Amino acid sequence: MSFVSKCTADVILRAAKALKDGHLVTFPTETVYGLGADASSSEAVARIYAVKGRPADHPLIVHIASMHDMDKWAINIPEYAIKLAREFWPGPMTLVLKRSELAKDFITGGQDTVGVRVPNHPIALALLEEFQKLGGHGVAAPSANRFGAVSPTTAEAVHDELSDYLGDEDLILDGGNSQVGVESTIIDCTGANPSVLRFGAITEEMIKVASELSLMGSALKNEIRVSGALESHYAPKAIVSLDVIPKAGEGYIAMNHLISPAGVIRLASPSTTEEFAHVLYSSFREADRAGISRIVVQQPVGPGLAEAIRDRLRKASAANNFH
Ligand code: TXA
Ligand code: MG
Repeated sequence: MSFVSKCTADVILRAAKALKDGHLVTFPTETVYGLGADASSSEAVARIYAVKGRPADHPLIVHIASMHDMDKWAINIPEYAIKLAREFWPGPMTLVLKRSELAKDFITGGQDTVGVRVPNHPIALALLEEFQKLGGHGVAAPSANRFGAVSPTTAEAVHDELSDYLGDEDLILDGGNSQVGVESTIIDCTGANPSVLRFGAITEEMIKVASELSLMGSALKNEIRVSGALESHYAPKAIVSLDVIPKAGEGYIAMNHLISPAGVIRLASPSTTEEFAHVLYSSFREADRAGISRIVVQQPVGPGLAEAIRDRLRKASAANNFH
C-alpha cells in the first residue's frame, strides 16, 4: 500500500489506473474518506468487503464525476431527483434510484435500487474524471473504516484503520480534513416524493425547497438495508454517553459555551453545528488514541445538521450495549 500526501496530476492518473486494474484507492471526499473500487468489477468490489470486514449483502454508493453520468447507473429518474442533483451536486448527498443494467447485485446488495453520489472534493472529482477517461463508469466507495467503526475524516485515520488489510498495489490519497465530517444525506428517490434514509448536511428543509415537494415520512425504520441504520454503528472503542455530567478523566465534547467540570479531558468545543460535525469523528479517534474509556457528549440542539449529529451519536452510544 502507498500513502500519497501530495496528489499531483501524475498521482491521480496512477490512482485511476490502479482502480482500473482492480486495486483499491482510498480517497478524500467532503463528507468522510471513501474506500474506492471499480464499481463494474465484482472482483474489485469483493475486495472492499474483505478489507472492511463488512457483510457482502450491504449496498455500496457509486461515486460519479458528474450528474450527467446518473443515467448510466439508474433508470426512471424522477424530475425531483434531477432538481436535487442540480442543486446539491457535487455535494454531501446520495440519491437512491431504480438501478440500470450496469448496477449489478454486488453493488446493490441484490436490491433493485442503486445509490449514486457526486462528491465535492477536488481530488475525488479529479480521480473520478481520470477514471472515466480510462473507460471506467463509477467508483464504489463505502466509508474507509472497518465495519461498525467511526468513519475516517483524515488520511492518517484511514491508514490507522485499514493499512493492515490493504494490498501492495492499493493507495491511500491524502486530501486533508474532510470538511463536513459526517456521511452524506441519503435520499430515496424511488417514490412519488423524496424520503430521507440517512440524515446529513443536506437537510430535510433544503430537500423540500429544492424538490418543491413534501417529504415522505422518514423511511429510517423501513426494510431497506442501510448499514448506517443498524443500531450499533459509528462507534469508537470508548463508551459514548449522551447528555450526562462527565467525571474526571473522562472525555467531553460539547459546544464551547459549556464549561468542563474539573479534571475532565475536553476533546472538542465547537462553536457551530457545522464545526461540531467537522470535529466529531476525529475527537472520537483522539479519545481512543489517548485510551480514554468514556466519552460524554452534550448533544447539539435544533434541526438540520444537528439532527444528523444526534443520529450518529445515538448509534455510537448504542454500541455501549456490546462492550
Ligand atoms: O458520505 C458518504 O456517503 C460516504 C462517502 C465515502 O461518499 N460513503 C458512505 O458509504 O458513507 P457507506 O457504505 O459507509 O454508507 C452508505 C450507506 C450504507 O448504509 C448503505 O446501506 C446505503 O448507503 N446504501 C447504498 N446503496 C443503497 C441503496 N440502493 N438503497 C438503500 N441504501 C443504500
Ligand atoms: Mg460507513
